[in-house]
Amino acid sequence: MSTTTPPRRAFDALIAEHGLGFGGDYNPEQWTPDVWREDVELMREAGVNLVTVGVFSWAMIEPTPGAREWGWLDEVLDLLHAGGIAVDLASPVASPPPWLGMRHPETLPVDRDGVRLIPGSRNQFSPASRVYREHAAAITRDLAERYAGHPAVCMWHVGNEYGQVDHGDEAAREFRLWLGRRYGTIEALNEAWGTAFWSQRYADFDEILPPRRMPYLVNPTQSLDFRRYSSDQLRECYRELRDVIRATGAAQPITTNFMGFHALTDYWAWADDVDVVSDDQYPDPASSDSPADIALVQDLMRSLGRGRSWVLMEQAISATSWREHNLPKSPLRARRDSLQAVARGADAVCYFQWRQAKAGAERFHSAMLPHAGSDSDVFRGVRRQGEDLKKLTAVAGARVPAEVAILFDWSSWWAGEEPARPTERLSTMTEVTRWYRELWRRGVVADVVPAASDLAGYRTILVPHSYIVTPETASALRTAVDAGAHVVIGPFSGVADENAQVLTGRSPVLLRDLLGVSGEEWGAVPDAGSPLAPADDWDAGRAVAQPHAGILAERLRAEDADVLARHADGDLAGIPAITRRTVGTGAAWYVGAVLDQATLSAVIADALAAAGITDALGGPAGLLPDGLEAVRRGDVLFLLNHADTRTDITVTGSHVDLLTGEETIDSVGIAPGEVRALTERRTW
Ligand code: GLA
Repeated sequence: MSTTTPPRRAFDALIAEHGLGFGGDYNPEQWTPDVWREDVELMREAGVNLVTVGVFSWAMIEPTPGAREWGWLDEVLDLLHAGGIAVDLASPVASPPPWLGMRHPETLPVDRDGVRLIPGSRNQFSPASRVYREHAAAITRDLAERYAGHPAVCMWHVGNEYGQVDHGDEAAREFRLWLGRRYGTIEALNEAWGTAFWSQRYADFDEILPPRRMPYLVNPTQSLDFRRYSSDQLRECYRELRDVIRATGAAQPITTNFMGFHALTDYWAWADDVDVVSDDQYPDPASSDSPADIALVQDLMRSLGRGRSWVLMEQAISATSWREHNLPKSPLRARRDSLQAVARGADAVCYFQWRQAKAGAERFHSAMLPHAGSDSDVFRGVRRQGEDLKKLTAVAGARVPAEVAILFDWSSWWAGEEPARPTERLSTMTEVTRWYRELWRRGVVADVVPAASDLAGYRTILVPHSYIVTPETASALRTAVDAGAHVVIGPFSGVADENAQVLTGRSPVLLRDLLGVSGEEWGAVPDAGSPLAPADDWDAGRAVAQPHAGILAERLRAEDADVLARHADGDLAGIPAITRRTVGTGAAWYVGAVLDQATLSAVIADALAAAGITDALGGPAGLLPDGLEAVRRGDVLFLLNHADTRTDITVTGSHVDLLTGEETIDSVGIAPGEVRALTERRTW
């Protein structure tokens, strides 16, 4: 368990002193000094108090090998400081200057087809390259030595969105070393990888390569371990630079920007290496599910930081430019996105980027100060957000309590999506998202928890799909149920061990006793789906119009559990699909098929009700009006209306809206797109 470290305390103190952070990536290297002055003026006008500087400035600082051009950065930091704007200073290692790749081609990454990627974009480095790492460490050291004591610098930002994969020769060397540390002997590796299959037995670690292009399917454990290695290797890059910064005497918090549920980085492993969790979030305005889906990401960020506040490091004020079709956000939507992050635990909300670029690959990506300048709706929206955030200082540092946990494990995700399984239509993220949406629609916050974690204190625990279940995870779930929790386990869970080898025996082998059911075969479900017959006494299920399963179902037998629904037709007729084993005041629920959303909703609603979970408004966790998000942070009840119709709901008692100053008694109206931040009005 990590404790609150001095750098983390420095972050909390910064927020306590200056209020919630507000700002964005600031890239002065794209502009001339006269523009910098205007920037600082407009930042002040907009209430900006935090900017990230220098993320892509390596070539500016080191235009030729070994050079150090600090003059421009000295001037920018002084200007920002004079303007009262704090700086999150970046080690500019995400995009090395072209000379590095030209002189040292081994610093450039190689893709799985053996193609070496060239300079001219960004991220052109191999995390395994010693030369890259030496150069990255050198510039970071000099930067930190020069600016650790600069009064503007309040935080350090290492790299940018670490997420590269490299299949080159140096990566092969590092992968073998990693495997040596994991397995000790080649025999142990052969066992774990199951290399007896297809004559893959290795005589020596030197024979192992990253999973480059192969004639046919890759060994799934090799693939899983390469993902684990790649995440660890990137993390080493981060830690190396974090330590370089710290060694200069810098006392500020150090972070790197995460990317939500990013497929190449196991953030459970990374989380304790950052002093403050920070994240980049780009919900798609074109998707009506994006408010719920981004809430899940925000709950993950809070959970990675063990409940502490986090930083929304990047988002778009309007359109992105990297989607195929980029819908702009209205200023109201942009405001709601920021306030949503605050409601779910962010103590700073920042954008990519401050001033919209006029050149380069992101010239059409929106920015706080658009091409049109300050006489624009976007900039007026920015100013409004600056004012709003000042009104919310009451929530700075406050917690977002959760009684529900949702289990998510990167290794399980990776292993569960290797090709050649009963169906490729089952997706971990889709299931996690579908299950989470049912919480969100009911105003129930969840902590996201890693496998094998201590689940004490959670009354409902959802495991939407965890392909790997270790004995430790099984035991944590058992302990939770024994303590009275309601645990709901989803389909195709507990299929494999930590080496992605299938557990033999009636499944889910390690959860069989807990669930009181066992299965013998998972099978893909025909496109028409499998209709379900809810039990006579399962009211919630009987209320669903056409309950059915799809994608994947298990040939299951109830051994010591109530059957809530069975397959009604076809080969699976009579086979249980949803079961519940009651244990004292708790229960272990099992969903042995991918359920349609309405039936899934009924299961989750029942498990929440049985555990006595209440929503953010304090009532039973029923469905809120469509598009309404309710979340409580500290003493403040946030109500966000993501729908395009007005909503009126009961909020018992007398409240004041921190954003408008308006008083409400027993009922609150929320206009489309609006946000309420209510605190109880005390009458004494
Ligand atoms: C990421 C990067 C930024 C920028 C934005 C654009 O978050 O970190 O540099 O490219 O995407 O959305």
